[in-house]
Amino acid sequence: MQSVAVITGGASGIGRACALRMANEGHAVAILDLQIDAGRETVELIRAQGGNAGFFECNVADHNSIAQAARQVEDTLGETRVLVTCAGLIPHAESILDLDIERHDRLWQVNYHGTLHSCRIFGRLMRDRRQGAIVTLGSINSLRPMPLPAYNVSKVAVHRLTELLAMELGPHGVRANCVGPTFVMTEGLQQKIAEGKRDLSVMLSQQALDALPTPDDIADAVAFLCSKAAARITGVLLPIDAGWTPGVSYYSYAGGLPWVRT
Ligand SMILES: NC(=O)c1ccc[n+]([C@@H]2O[C@H](COP(=O)([O-])OP(=O)(O)OC[C@H]3O[C@@H](n4cnc5c(N)ncnc54)[C@H](O)[C@@H]3O)[C@@H](O)[C@H]2O)c1
Repeated sequence: MQSVAVITGGASGIGRACALRMANEGHAVAILDLQIDAGRETVELIRAQGGNAGFFECNVADHNSIAQAARQVEDTLGETRVLVTCAGLIPHAESILDLDIERHDRLWQVNYHGTLHSCRIFGRLMRDRRQGAIVTLGSINSLRPMPLPAYNVSKVAVHRLTELLAMELGPHGVRANCVGPTFVMTEGLQQKIAEGKRDLSVMLSQQALDALPTPDDIADAVAFLCSKAAARITGVLLPIDAGWTPGVSYYSYAGGLPWVRT
């Protein structure tokens, strides 16, 4: 049987790009998502390029829902070797004092608890077989404060969780790493830019390179972290940020820049 790559949130955006990429790497791909039609569309895209895939309706905020999906994945597709946790909610800026606490808790249920549940359930299978690679979706939010109280802190937690997983799973031959994208040019972001809700020039002004990463750029980094080429890499947060991390302090240096950005 083929090895299986499980992609939570594989129905759209970064998750879909990771799913297509993992199929190219030779894995059977399991899409775990709430969105049934879009999830099946990802499966069809993979099949159209000659790959093997299945869709499993799943709410990552619910431990039992993932456990059930895991059983179905292993019964129908094969043994899980890769887990990429892309399922997530992305909010707008908000104030801590004025935020809607139910929306806050819901975001944590998906972004943090969903990642925890997914890593526990599939991590146990990997531990028992002494092989596997996990990649969690952090963010530049894992690295710096931003006015997104629920999201920002949840991404710090996802990063730390990944470090702990790396330590616990490492002796069993299983690796766990985190990727930290800046704004990614997904269809969702393209729409926000078109509607004037995001300003591309502001986003680009803080980073070294003059383009935002695409979902395929994230999938490339995820594929690397899951590959043999990364066999001795575990517990890292890999920023995929076009140079945003050095850029935020570099461009705000109070002594001024020694050159003019064109
Ligand atoms: N897009 C960006 O700019 C960006 C930047 C940094 C990090 N990230 C992270 O990357 C991940 C994917 O982001 P995206 O831009 O592709 O978002 P997206 O909205 O396109 O995809 C998220 C997917 O998760 C699924 N999902 C949401 N709640 C779920 C649940 N409870 N159970 C199962 N599936 C659920 C959605 O149906 C959707 O298919 C998220 O964790 C996000 O925080 C995104």
